[in-house]
Amino acid sequence: MNSSGSKRTLWHNARLATLAGDQPWGWLPQGALITEGEQIVWVGEASQLSPELSASIAQQRDLGGAVVTPGLIDCHTHLVYGGSRAHEFELRLQGASYEEIARAGGGIRSSVAATREAGEHELYALAAQRLQTLLAEGVTTIEVKSGYGLSQAAEAKMLRVARRLAGLGLEVRTTYLGAHALPPEYQGRPDAYVKALCDWLPELKREGLVDAVDAFCEGIGFTPAQTRQVFEAARALELPVKLHAEQLSDQGGTQLACEFGALSCDHLEYLGEAGIRALQASGTVAVLLPGAYYFLRETKLPPVQALREAGVPIAIATDHNPGTSPTLSLLLMLNMACTLFRLTPEEALRGVTQHAARALGLADRGQLVAGQRADFCIWDIAHPNELAYYFGRNPLRHTVRGGQLRN
Ligand code: NIG
Ligand code: FE
Repeated sequence: MNSSGSKRTLWHNARLATLAGDQPWGWLPQGALITEGEQIVWVGEASQLSPELSASIAQQRDLGGAVVTPGLIDCHTHLVYGGSRAHEFELRLQGASYEEIARAGGGIRSSVAATREAGEHELYALAAQRLQTLLAEGVTTIEVKSGYGLSQAAEAKMLRVARRLAGLGLEVRTTYLGAHALPPEYQGRPDAYVKALCDWLPELKREGLVDAVDAFCEGIGFTPAQTRQVFEAARALELPVKLHAEQLSDQGGTQLACEFGALSCDHLEYLGEAGIRALQASGTVAVLLPGAYYFLRETKLPPVQALREAGVPIAIATDHNPGTSPTLSLLLMLNMACTLFRLTPEEALRGVTQHAARALGLADRGQLVAGQRADFCIWDIAHPNELAYYFGRNPLRHTVRGGQLRN
């Protein structure tokens, strides 16, 4: 025990990808970590452990030379919904576009009907099952959006389900996406719907259901002017904003979001020069979603090299949703971020740890450094570049969350 009476654990014989410092990967090939409670209290080369530190250790775990990375963070998901959209996938394979299906009343609207129909227990069971797959790959923090309810009661239902998922042993950040699509009862009255969804926000926040506010700014979603109204409502409640931006066309949503100091702008295939400059100036994270790019058979690549040159932090997420990205593998997204978007394996790993944390406004995780949460993954690989190299293989040995071995 140390002076505060709390037990310290030494995790040693580890190859650490700390993602901190100047070395590629923040690599410490003969590394060790000390945790106390939920925190990391020391990280370094095992040879640098001082006698005083060694004396404070209550228990030790030999990791047998395994690679250790920060816990994975999936910073963009729509994990809670009813129904399936597999039939739309078939329609798209026959030539229909995502936009055509949406305009014909399918798409998001069909998930809205199924989500409204589903009871809270059923929604929870479905989402919990999906979450198990993500947890099995080392996800320790996840963001979950609403946006398939589109009424105050159904949005609240989705967000309550998202909150309950935290009981499965990870941190859940909730994002209110009332501005996802126009519900049928507001057909032809988009401005009235935008007013309504803004009016629901104070109560949803009071119920403790909202950590951030998002919108779908797109030809088939909401205009920049409507998105601005949503952001004004968020700002009035001091809630941070994010945006589904430039996914199918360049609407200038990114510039608007950056004007509001957005945590992140997500998708970004059609992002132009002005948007890149705006991200650079506001320090907003660019969240790239290779699953949606792949599943929609998009051909326009996000401007990765320009983002890199501008020093914009790039995160990667699953965007798990029934319409455009039904994947439950964040590791597969690492591979796709490299093969499809030409990120380096190191950039991809930073994208699901360090930069994903920032996209959620979480400063206490994403790297292995003293003071951060003790959330980390222990992998059966020799080098962290293998996380992006394999696809369809899960080399996770254990997850540690808040200093506790979880699986
Ligand atoms: O992130 N772009 C809008 N929202 C989701 C798709 C939702 C759906 O089709 O159900 C996305 O790709
Ligand atoms: Fe999304």
